[in-house]
Amino acid sequence: MQALKLILVVVALAVVAFGVFLWSGAYNVGADDPHWSATTRLLTMARERSIKTRSREIHAPDLDDPRLIAMGAAHYAEMCTGCHLAPGMPASEMRKGLYPKPPVLYKQDVHDPAEAFWVIKHGIKMTAMPAWGASHDDQAIWAMVAFLKKLPDLTPEQYRAMTADAHEPDEHGRHASEDMPEMHGH
Ligand code: HEC
Repeated sequence: MQALKLILVVVALAVVAFGVFLWSGAYNVGADDPHWSATTRLLTMARERSIKTRSREIHAPDLDDPRLIAMGAAHYAEMCTGCHLAPGMPASEMRKGLYPKPPVLYKQDVHDPAEAFWVIKHGIKMTAMPAWGASHDDQAIWAMVAFLKKLPDLTPEQYRAMTADAHEPDEHGRHASEDMPEMHGH
């Protein structure tokens, strides 16, 4: 009984000390201050387990459909390259300052389409990866997965050809280039 009480007091003190530490502002939230390696390992484990568990019931459609790949190419060029780069685009100013650093998606294979789908749809908390499901339906997200499967095989020329007329329609269904000359009020 005595020992149990002692353990409870120590745990309570540790929780209070942790709260005081956070409240004092001693913790540096800056993106240019890396985690301890133990923290990184813990976060990586949590991310991998979370994504694996949540994507278990997701089943991919036919990802070799050329129309799906073409749709994904346009989305990728419009929304993803600032962070994930592309063949012929070896760096970006934004990617330099991001922590954790976004993976270079043309240098890695999609090892599990369902996991890629889940990540693109829901994003990843406390990283720069947005939840694209807030603005895109499942078909558009599968299109991006279909394109990511092809991306590592593309030369810069092939990538440019596939994304040459990429314009993301705005929320009114118009393309950015269409309403460039006149300003429209909201
Ligand atoms: C503002 C930056 C940013 C943008 C824009 C962005 N991402 Fe990400 N993305 C990230 C970061 C950061 C990670 C890694 C998060 C981590 O380490 O947990 C990531 C991870 C991913 C992963 C998981 C890769 C892996 O190896 O685990 C996929 C797939 C992905 N992004 C696809 C996309 C797609 C497709 C788009 C465009 C629709 C996109 N991302 C746009 C920042 C971004």
